[in-house]
Amino acid sequence: MEAVKESWKAKGYIDEPVPEGTDLKAAIRQLCKEKNAVILAHYYTEGDLQDIADFVGDSLALARQAARTEADIIVMCGVHFMAETNKILSPEKKVLIPDLNATCSLAESCPADAFAAFVKAHPDHKVISYVNTSAATKAVTDVVVTSGNAREIVESFPKEQKLIFGPDRNLGAYINSITGRDMLLWDGACHVHERFSTAKLVALMKEHPGAKVLVHPECKGPVVKLADVVGSTAALLKYAIQSEADTFLVVTESGILHEMQRRAPGKTFIPVPPDDSTCGCNECNYMRLITLKKVYNSLRYEWPEVHVSADIAAAAVKPIERMLDISARLGL
Ligand code: 13P
Repeated sequence: MEAVKESWKAKGYIDEPVPEGTDLKAAIRQLCKEKNAVILAHYYTEGDLQDIADFVGDSLALARQAARTEADIIVMCGVHFMAETNKILSPEKKVLIPDLNATCSLAESCPADAFAAFVKAHPDHKVISYVNTSAATKAVTDVVVTSGNAREIVESFPKEQKLIFGPDRNLGAYINSITGRDMLLWDGACHVHERFSTAKLVALMKEHPGAKVLVHPECKGPVVKLADVVGSTAALLKYAIQSEADTFLVVTESGILHEMQRRAPGKTFIPVPPDDSTCGCNECNYMRLITLKKVYNSLRYEWPEVHVSADIAAAAVKPIERMLDISARLGL
């Protein structure tokens, strides 16, 4: 590999031109073969990335996949905390994220130092962190959760155990409401889900009276209250495939529609826009930073690589493995 250029470092991704006439999808698959690399993609990424990925999933499935892959290189098409989780679970692998600017607003809403101080101020509380956190925040956590297992993991603690939940105040409030717990919530949120509110959703519900409303639990309480089903991206997808309904109002990042349409081609999926939207969709601008061209260059030059310092990784791996163990035990 040639030396990492200053211009790449300044940008956080590689902007080398792709040779004219290159079929990017074919070239990426060829590089994966030559380098024994796998591509993992979250449902919120662009459809063409989901199409070329070896594995597409929700946060829980992606963590599991990273723990079990035998590839030498993992290319994470998603946001930075996902690549960090991969690295923590597979420290001997090279983990690439095609654009270092692909951060997560929710993870950013929980700076590790401030969260550590909050934890220290409540020594009688166990600490539950959503997977959308930095490795350093996970390092001061007892158990990590995703939206696919948060309820069950919270319920695995004795009722009298005091709990801190961070960083998503909406997911935390939702879990409090369905478990009867009174977890202390960190005041963070996802900039995509936080934008949804009820006016456009209610109008669409009137327009499509038979439609089922699919809501991600990172949405605000009044939006969650209108849902037929609340769940992780994988849970919403599963419901859409299995349901007898034929029309669905989808209240989460609109990238998930790609897999919904692919897996349930005869059904109608309508992305619900946020009330302040003029374009009719709600996309995560960080997820959308990952493109085919950046994936190609990242694989070609094996950069940008994600690193996690040994001490942070040693502390962060424990709550992640605890989550994977509890989830496996509960059959989630
Ligand atoms: P899930 O895929 O676990 O539902 O999480 C969505 C998300 O917030 C990804 O950043």
